[in-house]
Amino acid sequence: MLRAENITWEQGGKTILKGISLHLKQGEWAGLAGPNGAGKSSLLKILAFLEQPTGGRLFFQGELIEGRMPLALRRHLAVVFQDSLLLNTSVYENVAVGLKIRSLPKAVIKERVETWLERFGVLQLLKQPARSLSGGEAQRVNLARAFALEPDVLFLDEPFSALDAPTKAHLLQDLADASKESGVSALMVSHDFRELARLTQRTLIIKDGTTIAELPSAKLLSDYSRAAAADKNTVRHNVFDIEGFQNLHEVFSPIWEEF
Ligand SMILES: Nc1ncnc2c1ncn2[C@@H]1O[C@H](COP(=O)(O)OP(=O)(O)OP(=O)(O)O)[C@@H](O)[C@H]1O
Ligand SMILES: [Mg+2]
Repeated sequence: MLRAENITWEQGGKTILKGISLHLKQGEWAGLAGPNGAGKSSLLKILAFLEQPTGGRLFFQGELIEGRMPLALRRHLAVVFQDSLLLNTSVYENVAVGLKIRSLPKAVIKERVETWLERFGVLQLLKQPARSLSGGEAQRVNLARAFALEPDVLFLDEPFSALDAPTKAHLLQDLADASKESGVSALMVSHDFRELARLTQRTLIIKDGTTIAELPSAKLLSDYSRAAAADKNTVRHNVFDIEGFQNLHEVFSPIWEEF
């Protein structure tokens, strides 16, 4: 579906990505983890064709993409960022806008918008101004907007990190259901290994712009759980409290050195 070969990216005299390869198969969900500044968001933007790599090759559905990605292909992708901005209009319009650009019939647009708002539990907010939503509601609308496009590949950059634990748990469940129903492939950046184990089959761990490990997400979680349990440091134990888990990247950074 999406294949990256030896991707490098230089910006402002700095080499941010130093030769990363990745193959995302059809219907597969892969995770991307690593400490702050590792290059996760940079890689995601390059794979989503929002930035052009300095070196390496990208293939989409077997086709080598050179230079800018053609708009027709670009429409097979959807991106959700942690702080994706909603347009200053209604919830309905926010989800509908991408479908209108694709010139879909009005009835189809209405059906898709309502289906996905319903699936993410925010159908009742249809007419509300999007800018008046809470963070959790806005993220649900963002996900509905992405799924409504019926993309082949979905890119999620820390989509839950600003959410409280119960909201996050519900949204994870909804997203897991949506992923099964839609058959979409996805690449998700997260610092939360439970999230990764729940939604993705394998995780790529990057540090300083280089892949340092690639392993099944369930194994990542169990290995980390074991390492945390064996450690006397109570902060690490608390990582498994729901609230503490959001700070995983800070707590876990000493362990990154071991990879
Ligand atoms: N356009 C740019 N110009 C110069 N430097 C950049 C640019 N974009 C990213 N960087 C740098 O590249 C490095 C990687 O950034 P990136 O946002 O990809 O990290 P990340 O792994 O997503 O981190 P986080 O966990 O904090 O989100 C950082 O040092 C950042 O300052
Ligand atoms: Mg980032």
